[in-house]
Parts: sequence; structure tokens; C-alpha cells
Amino acid sequence: MARGFFITFEGLDGSGKTTQLHRLAAHLTCTGRDVVTLRQPGSTPLGDRIRGVLLDSGSEATLGPIAPNAELALMFADRAQAIAEVIQPALDAGSIVLCDRFTDSSEAYQGGGRMLGTARVLALHAAICDNLQPDMTLLLLPDLQTSLARARRRNQRHIEVEGSDENRFERESDEFYIRIHAAYRAIAVRESQRVLTLTDDASIDVIEGQIRDAVDARLPQAVSAPTASSR
Ligand code: TYD
Repeated sequence: MARGFFITFEGLDGSGKTTQLHRLAAHLTCTGRDVVTLRQPGSTPLGDRIRGVLLDSGSEATLGPIAPNAELALMFADRAQAIAEVIQPALDAGSIVLCDRFTDSSEAYQGGGRMLGTARVLALHAAICDNLQPDMTLLLLPDLQTSLARARRRNQRHIEVEGSDENRFERESDEFYIRIHAAYRAIAVRESQRVLTLTDDASIDVIEGQIRDAVDARLPQAVSAPTASSR
């Protein structure tokens, strides 16, 4: 059966991963590949509802405090729906799937940030997601101080300029982000075959080039050689 290629993007808020995801999508599309992009939480009708509950800063005013385990379970409900509705069908059709956050985010944010632990997240991933693993993960993770400064800048922009309501996570303390940063570093060490960590403070264009080279080198022949029908 055709098997596409599954790439995830990870990092702290404000890491620039969404910009890089879209640049890589444009590059791959230009070279004739079928590319499907999505973000988590979201990207399905059910997922968009879950996203509203999880990210809106007003959620807790109407729903009350969201228990960490409920937050984790909702992240996995969103993920299960996205796998069934978007990711697995696209991979079966031979497409390249680019996903903005996946289970590593749950391990970093809920496992690390909310201190629920890695084992619980990985057990849920095995049970709910049939252990579907990305072929490659691009982790944008500058050093801690740079990461914290960017997360703070982005949070201020969201709150003051864009008036976004999606800032429930962004109100968290520095300690929350320090734990997330440490959890991501641990994932990168454990999953060194899968995870490519981009740690330096290079320009957006330089990082784009590094990502493009790494992906082009790892894409298997089946998806790197577009067929006439996918042009
Ligand atoms: P989003 O606005 O998409 O942020 P970003 O551009 O930084 O990805 O919001 C996603 C938020 O949800 C982000 O703060 C991380 C959080 N999140 C988790 O806590 N656990 C998860 O499993 C996922 C997928 C996201």
C-alpha cells in the first residue's frame, strides 16, 4: 500500500514553527508533491470545537478550571479524530503530511508543563493513536532564555495587538515553560533518530534552508519522485 511521509513540527509558543511549516509546504508543493497540512488541536470540525474549549482564555470562566487530565484527554480526542479523518487517509494516499504539533506537544506541555509525566502520555498515544509515529520531527528549540523571551513577546502581541482569545496557555508562568523546554530536550535525546532539533538563533531564511535540506535528504524515493497525476 502507498505510504506517504509524516512530518511534525514542534517547539514552544513563538518558536516560528508555523512559519517554517508553511514554507516547507510551499517548497514541497512546488516540486510536485501532494502535501496536506494541519495543526493540533484543530483541523477537523470536532477538533475545532475542542480547540475552542482548550485555548480560549474565557473557557474557564464558563466551564470552571480544566483538570490537567481532562486537558490531556481532550488533546488526545482531537488527535484521534485528526488521525482518522485527515492524517491516515492522506498517508494511505501517498501524501506528505505536515502537522503543526503532535504527541510530543502533549508530552512536553501536559507531561512536562502540567507534570502528568511522560509514561501516561505515551500510554495514551499507544492506546488511542495506535502508536502512529512521525517519520520525522522538526523541533525548533533555541536555548531556554531565547525561548522564554520569544514566548513572552508572542503572548504580549496576542493579548494586546491581535486581541486573540486563544491565550489560555500563554498566561502560564515561566516555570511552566521551563518544564516544557526540559521535556522537549529529553524527547530529542530519546528520539534522536526521528527528531531534528534546530537550536541556533539563525534567521528564518537560514532555518528554512536547513529544514528543506534535511527533509529532501530523508524523503523516501516513493514520495520524492512525483507521479504525473500528482503534478
Ligand atoms: P497555538 O495557537 O496553535 O500555538 P502554537 O502556534 O504555539 O502552536 O496553540 C496551541 C497551544 O496548545 C500551545 O500553547 C500548545 C498547546 N498544546 C498542548 O498543550 N498540548 C498538545 O498536545 C497540543 C497539540 C497543543
